[in-house]
Amino acid sequence: MSMRETKISVRNLHKRLGPRQVLRGIDLEITEGQSLVVIGASGSGKSVMLKCMIGLMKADKGSVIVDGRNIARHSESDRRFMTKQSGMLFQGSALFDSLRIWENVAFRLLHAEKSSRKAAQKKALECLAQVGLAPEVGNLMPSELSGGMQKRVSLARAIASDPQILFFDEPTTGLDPIMADVINNLIVERVKALGATAISITHDMASARKIADEIAMLYQGRIIWRGKPDEIENSNNPMVEQFVNGRAEGPITMAVTRA
Ligand SMILES: Nc1ncnc2c1ncn2[C@@H]1O[C@H](COP(=O)(O)OP(=O)(O)OP(=O)(O)O)[C@@H](O)[C@H]1O
Ligand SMILES: [Mg+2]
Repeated sequence: MSMRETKISVRNLHKRLGPRQVLRGIDLEITEGQSLVVIGASGSGKSVMLKCMIGLMKADKGSVIVDGRNIARHSESDRRFMTKQSGMLFQGSALFDSLRIWENVAFRLLHAEKSSRKAAQKKALECLAQVGLAPEVGNLMPSELSGGMQKRVSLARAIASDPQILFFDEPTTGLDPIMADVINNLIVERVKALGATAISITHDMASARKIADEIAMLYQGRIIWRGKPDEIENSNNPMVEQFVNGRAEGPITMAVTRA
């Protein structure tokens, strides 16, 4: 066992949205330098959990301790602290349509860190190179890129300010299996190069196996299982088994609306 310290500690996190109690007491510890992948059914609250962890959404109850500081109170300074500490790849990439690619990648450097345009552009092009994109791409607009390229740009943006914590929300969804693998490899490589702590969300078991030191499963608002990737086949947990084997029948039921 390593003697590394806890980087993020989530305790008893609750969040209600409209009529739904989405998070019902999330407990999660992430050690410094660890890569944790959270799996779970669509709509189970994975993105909401991540948003509460990064300080984009205020939890109703519970704590998120990052480096000993509870950011769940969601003060202005908590949010600034998390912005400085972390980078995030959003589900669906979420690039700014009206900004060039390099300006998207350098957004935080330009706006929060007040770098010069020249220095920010240089850093943006370095980050684009780290995800395998040529400098010319920097001058394009997001609409001119394929989905796979947009994911790479989003990854470049997440790493641009050398964050200690990286959040990835569905980094490979919607990509072909080869491009998904390219992105997974880039994630593993960049997380290692930064020495960062990473929390990723995915439906994609191949991706989870590739990038995770440990996998945790979210179900009905709580973490119901956690283990190493090679333990997941023998979890002895019916929810995990159903999810890993992709079966419609089982304890997890999906709400299907018929027209
Ligand atoms: N801003 C919001 N306002 C109201 N309800 C929301 C909001 N964001 C999420 N929800 C609801 O919270 C629940 C969980 O949503 P969430 O996006 O976290 O799911 P998810 O696990 O990330 O799903 P997917 O795998 O499809 O991305 C859903 O029922 C969703 O409708
Ligand atoms: Mg989601």
